[in-house]
Amino acid sequence: MPAKGAHVDVIVGGGVVGLSVAWRMARSGRPVTVVDPAPGRGASYAAAGMLAPVSEVTFTEAPLLRLGVASLRRWPAFAAELAADAGLTPDAPPGQNAGPGFADVRALDLRADGTLDVAFGADDLEALGELAAYMEKLGLPVERLTGRECRRLEPMLAPSVRGGLLAPGDAWVDPRRVTAALLSALERRGVPVVRARASELLRDGDRVSGVRLAPPESEDGTGGEVRGDRVVLAAGAWSSGLAEVPVRPVKGQIMRLRSPQPLLSRCVRGAVHGSSVYLVPRGDGELVVGATQEEMGFDTKVTAGGLYELLRDARELVPGVTELEVADVVAGLRPGTPDNLPLIGPSGTPGLVYATGHHRGGVLLAPLTTAMLLGDLPGEESELAALCAPGRFS
Ligand code: GLY
Repeated sequence: MPAKGAHVDVIVGGGVVGLSVAWRMARSGRPVTVVDPAPGRGASYAAAGMLAPVSEVTFTEAPLLRLGVASLRRWPAFAAELAADAGLTPDAPPGQNAGPGFADVRALDLRADGTLDVAFGADDLEALGELAAYMEKLGLPVERLTGRECRRLEPMLAPSVRGGLLAPGDAWVDPRRVTAALLSALERRGVPVVRARASELLRDGDRVSGVRLAPPESEDGTGGEVRGDRVVLAAGAWSSGLAEVPVRPVKGQIMRLRSPQPLLSRCVRGAVHGSSVYLVPRGDGELVVGATQEEMGFDTKVTAGGLYELLRDARELVPGVTELEVADVVAGLRPGTPDNLPLIGPSGTPGLVYATGHHRGGVLLAPLTTAMLLGDLPGEESELAALCAPGRFS
């Protein structure tokens, strides 16, 4: 355990955000320790990994769009550096799917073929048209397509799909590969990863000075503590168990289907009479179908009803999904905040920093989060940090 006064940052949380923060800090020469009972097995394990700020935009979330666009710009270099640091061999030659500015980081299944947002019913088409007008007003690069044009891009789409919207700059990555790579990179840099649950923050006077470990889960079975001169709280939905932070769990159920041939060549999102679903193809032939959005507290049960809704809507858009083998079903907890923006930066309590509340965008926002915490935002982006300032809720 690092000794007190060793200028260690203790990162609580081993998801994409916590591990990314730990990795970037370690890269910049700062001693860090990660604390998580099961790194990479929380919300990041369930996440689809869409890097899709444009196609995920909603009428009320323009600030989130700005964060997402800024973070997406960082993903190519982030992924390439991560792959190198983790000792992954990039596949050569670059694949046909690498988008402009994107290294083809096959090892992380990073692809940039855009997102096709499609409409099933007349009501869905009308709603998509309104969204398209909003996106055009914001100057976003989107293309309106007829049903036939959608099927030309994605021949497995149902004949009943009425129209769509292509966001060509959107990308995606496999979060399970990303967390595995982050753990390898940390191991190669000698960063300790304590596989235990942080049960409470330790304090020296007013200052947070580490975390206590929950006894049954600590490595030696006796509990113990990890001390440092700063704690970075990156525990996602579990953050509110450690600090007064307005983060709540938002359950998402997701399934992975195994396909002998890729059914889709890009991410497809869709609305089926107002009910949303997305399908994300993986390089290994898997197709991720997600995700429910449920306010159920800390419940992570996979339910028949949740899977039924996902499959019902996915089948309307891509009938071939019913032929595929079910590889995996899982539920994760997104860390939701009252305004759907993350909390990144000093908490107001000395020694405690937040990197939490990323809700639907943890994977997308990980590179930007690390840049904010390392003070690495160029001038024109510096106001983005204010959007995420934890003080906005105090
Ligand atoms: N970003 C997709 C989701 O949260 O379901």
